Amino acid sequence: MALERRCFGPHEGLFQRRQIRRLLASATAAWFVYGDYWGACCMLIGANGRARWGRLYSLAVDPAHREKGIGRALVLAGLDWLAAHHIDQCRAEVKAGNEPARRLYASLGFVEAGGLPHYYGIGGHGLRLAKTLRGAP
Ligand SMILES: CC(C)(COP(=O)(O)OP(=O)(O)OC[C@H]1O[C@@H](n2cnc3c(N)ncnc32)[C@H](O)[C@@H]1OP(=O)(O)O)[C@@H](O)C(=O)NCCC(=O)NCCS
Repeated sequence: MALERRCFGPHEGLFQRRQIRRLLASATAAWFVYGDYWGACCMLIGANGRARWGRLYSLAVDPAHREKGIGRALVLAGLDWLAAHHIDQCRAEVKAGNEPARRLYASLGFVEAGGLPHYYGIGGHGLRLAKTLRGAP
């Protein structure tokens, strides 16, 4: 919660304590934490019938530890976890104005796959992202 509050405002998808508890208890969610909560990433596995996909649900790096490769390392760990679960696609959403996150995702091979008007509240437009995972076992 402390890391979440340092990284997100109330209109930026800040998790509630209850949501974090639910995600920690879920068999289809995994958290990756770097250092002493300098950064954290939550990945989900979604399913609909036979279709299964991964979703990068949350990524946050403490402002004091940014631009040192922690965000990249966390997403890569999450993508490895998805691949180990035979998932071949990872989805994500990002705020259109979030240049650091958009660059990070682009550098990891995520492609922008459509717009999400007002996804983050009125005027807070989002983008849908997708990445194909190769080499899934
Ligand atoms: C986005 C965020 C997770 C990046 O974490 P980070 O640990 O600072 O990122 P890294 O050091 O691993 O950087 C990886 C790449 O991201 C991009 N990047 C990171 N910070 C950037 C910045 N301030 N400006 C531009 N690009 C940036 C670069 O492409 C960088 O690669 P490079 O170092 O080869 O140039 C971090 O800024 C953050 O927590 N922001 C607030 C929460 C948030 O927006 N989360 C994502 C929600 S979708």
